[in-house]
Amino acid sequence: MNFRKLCVLGLGYIGLPTASTFAVNGIQVLGVDINPDIVETLQNGNIHIHEPGLRDLVSHAIQSGNFSASTQLEEADAFLIAVPTPFKEHKLGEHNGQKYKLADMRAVTSATEAIVPFLRKGNLVVLESTSPPRTTVDLVKPILERSGLKAGVDFHLCYSPERVLPGQILRELVENARVVGGVTPESARAGHDLYTNFVKGKIIETDATTAEMVKIMENTTRDVNLALANEFARLAEKLGVNVWEAINLANLHPRINILNPGPGVGGHCVSVDPWFFVEAAPELTSLIYQARQVNDSQPHFVVEKVKRAFHTQAAVVSGENAVKGVIYGKKIAALGLAYKPDVDDLRESPATEVVHLLQKEGAHVKAWEPFKPDARMNGIYMAADLHDAIRDADAVLLLVKHSEFVKLNPQQLLSQTKARIALDTVNAWNIDEWQKAGFILHRLGVNKS
Ligand SMILES: NC(=O)c1ccc[n+]([C@@H]2O[C@H](COP(=O)([O-])OP(=O)(O)OC[C@H]3O[C@@H](n4cnc5c(N)ncnc54)[C@H](O)[C@@H]3O)[C@@H](O)[C@H]2O)c1
Repeated sequence: MNFRKLCVLGLGYIGLPTASTFAVNGIQVLGVDINPDIVETLQNGNIHIHEPGLRDLVSHAIQSGNFSASTQLEEADAFLIAVPTPFKEHKLGEHNGQKYKLADMRAVTSATEAIVPFLRKGNLVVLESTSPPRTTVDLVKPILERSGLKAGVDFHLCYSPERVLPGQILRELVENARVVGGVTPESARAGHDLYTNFVKGKIIETDATTAEMVKIMENTTRDVNLALANEFARLAEKLGVNVWEAINLANLHPRINILNPGPGVGGHCVSVDPWFFVEAAPELTSLIYQARQVNDSQPHFVVEKVKRAFHTQAAVVSGENAVKGVIYGKKIAALGLAYKPDVDDLRESPATEVVHLLQKEGAHVKAWEPFKPDARMNGIYMAADLHDAIRDADAVLLLVKHSEFVKLNPQQLLSQTKARIALDTVNAWNIDEWQKAGFILHRLGVNKS
């Protein structure tokens, strides 16, 4: 199939790179977003998200004359949906007394409904949003068929999961293998034809529900493995073992690849998608459920570690025994709020959860996020810069392994802060160097400084 015009609904981390990549490869693209600020930003030649190379790509797309942004759809040969699929804020499901999160599919529903008046015979509709299994056939298809046209007969319908890594999106978009699942083999073929416009990786055709399951299986595998790593960190602390050393040694085995523990699991994908399986079949997903519980409780584990760090110091200074309340009134510099290193994405970030929990304990936290210094986070005090965050702090708490934090020189830092306690939740700082400089360094997964 030949595609001359494409409408991309949702111009975020996925939709904008995808839309502009199609545009620079010769397809006429209308990017549609319900947020008028985003559309205006793009119309003015700016971008609203941080992703390496994206600014240049978008400006090439605009210069090519193939890309424009609007809040309104138009007729096109193909429609691609890349809108958010978070979970519901205020509603939980329940199975045998266990509560689980539910997918909020309102954006997919309204984006699909918006396509209906523009849908024509021969069109292709592709859902890229990570979605619960069967969304394409049970949610998207019936809505589109309100047009009077039949999926797989009058128009093609596909699901194609996006599997790019933030920070590498532009390269991976082109190079990664892509799975295209159609409601019919002909729909899968049409999806294949659309992506051949720029994808250099293999394009594999399958059915829509398999394609949905592939994406959720990938993220669930990561989540379960991260839960295991986090549980290993907790065990290592109890057993007096350095988890980082133990993981390195275990990973020497040719068939073992333990992931790195950390302050929790966040982001728009790994911490969300496993719930889609739990929601689909709570009676079959006890391991997946348990992994989510472990990862969601990891910020609490970090806060207990912070308390113990202050308690150790308090005991030395005053012989005080009670751990509870030990961080009340303490000033803590939280370094990093993003959900992973070197990105500006704060969604579902465990770092923000750690900050909230510390605040609940009465600590005064100043957070410094170099990738989003102007972020307005509910109830979190954002420092103006690193110096502002650490100057009056009693402790420096590293929550994200941003490259610039890894490179911090403890000797230089010492003169810029009152803090002598440093806590590293991501294995970024060298214990000897920090101790030598004069800090007491505590590390997640290690039960001594
Ligand atoms: N960010 C990632 O790294 C990543 C990776 C793989 C898959 N995904 C999946 O891709 C989907 C999109 O994620 P994202 O990170 O790009 O989200 P995002 O929040 O960055 O962008 C989504 C955009 O969609 C817009 N939008 C919401 N409802 C709309 C509607 N009805 N019509 C048009 N626009 C609408 C929003 O205003 C927003 O700009 C999600 O399902 C996500 O799980 C994301």
